[in-house]
Amino acid sequence: MENSAVRFSEVLKEKSGVTRLTLTDFRNYAQLRLNVGLCPIVLTGENGSGKTNILEAVSFLTPGRGLRGARLADIKRLTPTLVTPDFEPALNAGNGWAVSAAIQKNGEEFNLGTMVQKALREEDESAKTFERRIVQIDGQKVSSQSELGKYFSAIWVTPQMDRLFLGGTQPRRSFLDRIVYAFDLEHAKRTANFEHLYKQWYQLLKAGCRDNAWLGSLEEEMAALGVAIAAARRELIARLNTFIEQEPDDVFPDISLELDGTIEKLLDKMAAVDVEDYYRGSLFKQRHSVLANDYVDGVNRTDFKVYYKKKHMPAELCSTGEQKSLLVSIILAQTKCQMLDKGFAPVLLLDEVTTHLDDAKRDALLCKIRDLQLQAWITSTEQQIFNVLKNDALFLSVKNNMVY
Ligand SMILES: Nc1ncnc2c1ncn2[C@@H]1O[C@H](COP(=O)(O)OP(=O)(O)O)[C@@H](O)[C@H]1O
Ligand SMILES: [Mg+2]
Repeated sequence: MENSAVRFSEVLKEKSGVTRLTLTDFRNYAQLRLNVGLCPIVLTGENGSGKTNILEAVSFLTPGRGLRGARLADIKRLTPTLVTPDFEPALNAGNGWAVSAAIQKNGEEFNLGTMVQKALREEDESAKTFERRIVQIDGQKVSSQSELGKYFSAIWVTPQMDRLFLGGTQPRRSFLDRIVYAFDLEHAKRTANFEHLYKQWYQLLKAGCRDNAWLGSLEEEMAALGVAIAAARRELIARLNTFIEQEPDDVFPDISLELDGTIEKLLDKMAAVDVEDYYRGSLFKQRHSVLANDYVDGVNRTDFKVYYKKKHMPAELCSTGEQKSLLVSIILAQTKCQMLDKGFAPVLLLDEVTTHLDDAKRDALLCKIRDLQLQAWITSTEQQIFNVLKNDALFLSVKNNMVY
């Protein structure tokens, strides 16, 4: 049988990924500089040695709050930095922290940097500080984090995602929205703006605001953005389902994906402008109930359903190992789809990904990463389980806040 991973890697002439990573006052690292190849990178070390922190740093080369969804203030290294004279940070972190990286995208090199600093909220008399994230591309500050997606893309799997199909809808929605963003860069802006408007609307209602014009204009903006968000999600789900049907994986389970949200479902049978009208009206009607039951229906409630197709089984009823395999199926489909659609490969950040996978599936995943010629940052406490990559990966050990 033809090796489909090898065939996919031939779609692209060049590999993509990080070639140099520099951290300044990031978590347990005062300063760290890593030069790596565009190959799988296996990071091993004891619990708490700093493996996940490195993956988290790479995830900050994408918009948002990284793979832990952390508060920006929690990332700043807790112990003050002792600056060694020969270390020149690529970005001066000042009173905050910084991650910078040289990346390759299809043979072209770019420098991406992000820096988070404390700033004073001027309008606030209490002089509270807040964390501000600044993004630079080739030394130039850019106005929107979503610009990063033109140069770099990362897909992560973390131990927290072992419960992705079981718990509340929010982590599944974020997971879905990150996939949508990978294909449609505007999506990160849309979801961030929606969240911002929603908070404003909610706070106004909570404060007893009766200003119809003000509330109405927020509802109008939310409805327009919400319908755009729902439409982008629908497009992505259709794209991935078609891809999975055409290119089923030979090892990982075949899946089908479904959206479960009022606005997304209405777009099946109504024109977008009519759905927008409906949404605006629905927000207006919910003004009174929102404070009573803290529930507002809309795109901020949409769920994302995954089915194990051959078994006709919803993901939440599958075994823990099967759920992990379903997750791998999704990210492999996303990876290949991105390679075709965007013309460059995403970087995989796989934190303890081998947990719950049987030996055969673990080896199959590692071989697929190798054959797709991806850069994948993979963490584990054990090195011997990566034997199939012994000639292909860079093996690093993490110890005492250093990487060897
Ligand atoms: N802001 C911070 N400053 C300093 N150390 C931190 C900060 N946040 C987390 N740490 C520490 O970083 C260490 C390494 O964490 P992590 O990368 O998650 O380890 P692991 O190797 O198990 O993945 C932990 O001991 C954690 O307490
Ligand atoms: Mg970890």
